[in-house]
This record gives sequence, C-alpha cells and structure tokens, in this order.
Amino acid sequence: MTILVTGGAGFIGSNYVLDWLAQSDETVVNLDKLSYAGNLQNLASLKDDSRHVFVKGDIGDATLVPALLAQYQPRAVVNFAAESHVDRSIHGPGEFVQNNIVGTYQLLESVRAYWAALPAPAKADFRFLHVSTDEVYGSLGKSDPAFTESNTYEPNSPYSASKAASDHLVRAWHHTYGLPVLTTNCSNNYGPYHFPEKLIPLVIVNALAGKTLPVYGDGQQIRDWLYVKDHCSAIRRVLEGGKPGETYNVGGWNEKANLDIVRTICGLLDSLQPRADGKPYADQIAFVTDRPGHDRRYAIDARKIERELGWKPAESFDTGIAKTVAWYLGNQDWVANVQSGGYRDWVQTQYGGQSTPTAATA
Ligand code: NAD
Ligand code: DAU
Repeated sequence: MTILVTGGAGFIGSNYVLDWLAQSDETVVNLDKLSYAGNLQNLASLKDDSRHVFVKGDIGDATLVPALLAQYQPRAVVNFAAESHVDRSIHGPGEFVQNNIVGTYQLLESVRAYWAALPAPAKADFRFLHVSTDEVYGSLGKSDPAFTESNTYEPNSPYSASKAASDHLVRAWHHTYGLPVLTTNCSNNYGPYHFPEKLIPLVIVNALAGKTLPVYGDGQQIRDWLYVKDHCSAIRRVLEGGKPGETYNVGGWNEKANLDIVRTICGLLDSLQPRADGKPYADQIAFVTDRPGHDRRYAIDARKIERELGWKPAESFDTGIAKTVAWYLGNQDWVANVQSGGYRDWVQTQYGGQSTPTAATA
C-alpha cells in the first residue's frame, strides 16, 4: 500500500512523513516542488529508506501527477502543499493564488480522474485529505466562542483567502463528483523544522544571534498553538476514521498572546543558554509596525475530532515549547543551512548531481 503526500518537504509535511514511516511500513510518495520552504534536509534520515520516494514537482502539473498516480496507485492523497506564510501573501499574493487555488484545483482534477477509474473496492476506500487552517474562519473577539466546524468562512488575508478557496474546491469535488474528501482545519503549529520566518522559530533564532525580537503591534494577538507531532497524529486519525465529506477542526486548547510566547521563549533560553553578558533575552524584544489586516484572535474548538475520532493532543504548550527550544539549540547546523541558503543545495550534495531518486522515472 502507498500514500501520496504533497508538500512533504515543508515544515508539517516533513514531520508527517517522518512520523508516518516511524509507525508504518506503507510507502510514502512525497511530491514537493521545493519552493524556498521545502527542505529535503528535514528528510535526510530517510535517504536510504526505500519506503520514501521523493519526487520534485508541482501539484499543478497535469502530466506529472497523473503519471505518479498511475505508477504508484496510492490509496490516499494527503495534501499539505501550499504557500503558507501570511506576511509573504501580503507582499506577493499571486503565488498564493497560483499554488493554493489553481494548484489544488489541478490536483483535484488529476486525483478525480485516477479515482474514477479505480476498481470498486479501491474506489470506496480511497481518501483525499486536504490540510487546511483555522485562519479561514477569520478573527475572533476576546470573548467569542472558539471556531467550530460550522463557523462561516471569513478569511482576511490573501493567504487565508487562498486556503478558503481551496477548501471550497475540495468540498465541491465531493458534493458534485463524489470524491471521498476529508478536510482538517488546524491552528498554529510549532516544533522541529519550522522555517524561521514564522514567530516561534524566528524568535529562537534571532535571540541566539543577538538580534531584535520583532513583536507586531501591541503583541496581544492570540493564537492557539499545537505541537506539530500532535497535528500529524490528528491527520493520521482523520485519514483512518474520518467520514468523507466532513471537516475536522484540530487544535491544542492553548490560546496564548504573542508577547507571552516571546517572553516564554526568552525565559527558556535564559536558563538553557544564558546570554554572555548575563542580561535577559527579553531585552531584545522590539515592538514593530503591525501586520496589515492582522487577525486579533484564533481559537479552535476541537471537540468534534475528540468526540468522533477519539483524538487528543499529547503535548501541553509547556512540554511542546520546551522540546522545540531544545530542538533548535541542538540543531544549529540546520538553522545555519537555512539562513545561508545551503539547504537548497542539499539535493545536489546528497544525490551527487543526479536528479532526486524518482523524478526521472516519474
Ligand atoms: P511550509 O511552507 O513549511 O511547506 C509547504 C511545502 O509545500 C513546501 O515544502 C513547498 O515546497 C511545498 N509546495 C508549495 N507549493 C507547492 C506546489 N504547488 N506543488 C508542490 N509542492 C508545493 O508549510 P507548512 O507550515 O508545513 O504548512 C503545510 C500545510 O498546512 C499548508 O497547506 C498550510 O496551509 C497548512 N497549515 C499550516 C499551519 C501552520 O501553523 N504552519 C497550520 C494549519 C494548516
Ligand atoms: O493559524 C494557522 C496559521 O498559523 C497557518 O495557517 C499559517 O500557515 C501559519 O503561518 C500560521 O499563521 P500566523 O500568521 O498565525 O503565524 P506567524 O508565525 O506568521 O505569526 C504568529 C503571530 O505572531 C501573528 O499574530 C503575527 C505575529 N508575529 C509574527 C512574526 C513573524 C510577530 O509579532 N512578529 C513576527 O516577526
């Protein structure tokens, strides 16, 4: 048996592939275009593992994707591939429209053609799982109840609008064509391999480098944080037991203001790797211009996945953030490679000038 994972060289996707192969012998075909956010070094431990087949390519490639589906006959597709950074979407929304909306559309069409031709039992068992975000629901007021699966979609950034559009396409492909889809809407992830443009890894990396820790606006915006491995376990659970056509909210019941997150990280670093001058890392905090259209608060009501599928996060915020800070301290070569751009040469270094293992055969 095989699954096709898209975007599996990014932050969550690579954690998912690593987790999957730690728990199962089922082959993973990993399709990723290796944008700036794709880092094959995250998967270096799988270099000689025949259960991992990496293919460099785009979910929107209407020749490559059907060829991969025909060759590997996956029983499921898990779609992580997307542009994911809100600030980048503000500066350049076009990539988000192209990858997240047009790319998902084309992927759905390739998968629909493959699925329609499957023999009856395989057709019934097939699943297309679309990984989405809580940002599609918009922004909450201080005392509003957390997002449930029946909240209306009110996306506010080019990123969240592009994810909302892709969610709607996925829903329509189920409603109209019967494609057995599942959608997960998850809150903010953090953990190993998180690209240091996002708040938590940026703060860790900047703190250690003696740089300022930029806090947008008043720092009182609230996010609901989930350790990435918990997101991976939720996706596995939904893939296994979710009902086609349903959506599942995934969250950690960990609402925190940004400034508190930054201060928590500073406190951990103060004890694990104190500054040479003995001063607190919090001295590096700088309040900077707010993000345009900045959503004030997100919070996920995760009772449906808990009730129907028995999923719960394993980590609290305290345990997850301690593991995350420790990971960054222990993996400063990974950080250095990302900062120097060296990670982009990883394919060349690892595969000796040849193409990635299967790109040629795909
Ligand atoms: P990421 O930016 O770290 O990784 C995205 C990966 O997708 C990269 O490896 C990139 O090369 C690949 N990719 C982008 N466009 C592609 C295309 N057209 N074809 C093939 N590959 C492509 O993102 P992430 O944080 O790992 O997020 C993964 C998914 O989870 C996204 O869909 C995102 O919207 C969603 N999500 C993220 C979070 C979060 O907190 N990071 C929370 C909820 C949902
Ligand atoms: O909610 C899920 C979403 O979480 C995912 O769908 C996105 O892919 C993911 O990037 C994340 O979006 P956010 O915009 O919430 O994450 P980010 O880490 O960029 O920012 C977290 C909060 O911290 C947000 O309120 C903005 C703020 N921030 C961010 C950065 C990068 C700062 O104050 N300073 C910063 O330098």
